[in-house]
Amino acid sequence: MVASTSTPDVIRIFPTFVWQRRLEPACYEPLDRDLMAYVDDLIRSSDGARSGAAWQSGHQQHGKPELAALIALIEQAARDVLIFLKVADAPFRITGCWINVLAPGGSHAIHSHPNNFLSGVYYLRSQTGADTINFHDPRPQTAIIRPPVTELTAYNTDQVVLPVGEGTLLIFPAWLPHSVSANTSAQARVSISFNIMFADYDEIMSPPLWGLP
Ligand SMILES: [Fe+2]
Repeated sequence: MVASTSTPDVIRIFPTFVWQRRLEPACYEPLDRDLMAYVDDLIRSSDGARSGAAWQSGHQQHGKPELAALIALIEQAARDVLIFLKVADAPFRITGCWINVLAPGGSHAIHSHPNNFLSGVYYLRSQTGADTINFHDPRPQTAIIRPPVTELTAYNTDQVVLPVGEGTLLIFPAWLPHSVSANTSAQARVSISFNIMFADYDEIMSPPLWGLP
């Protein structure tokens, strides 16, 4: 028998997803105009926290009427994600929502969003030099042995840099580590982040999965 010299078939298992919805300009331009007016008011009223080049609002923005239109879009996208994942009709809540303003030079270190199922971000102001988000390999084992490679591909990289733009809505697993590279543009990058968790988790989902009486 002659051994095959072709590349073995690749079978993807346990894939990691990032869901993206790019709104049409007719949808996001008026939305962003209203949201930016609200953000400017918040910053002027000092209703937030500044750390270096980063300003962040309080974490309960999802309750503000000024965000109602965006929250409706986020909730619809989250419903679509749960349908994709074949999660049974399970009620969920936005548990946190906050605005990030990253001035030129500002970055955001690698982190994840514990104690939630999904997280996401909507981009209000994003220009060249401030138009990416980095996702990092969530499998710590892959960092133990990293042989040199001739080319970075989807199969050997430990980081995926995703381009984003104004009107982009991303949703991803809350456990997926991510970071933001330094803003090399001359303007601020403005985004709205959120977390989503199942409502009544203890009642609906925490009982053991095996079928003892
Ligand atoms: Fe984040």
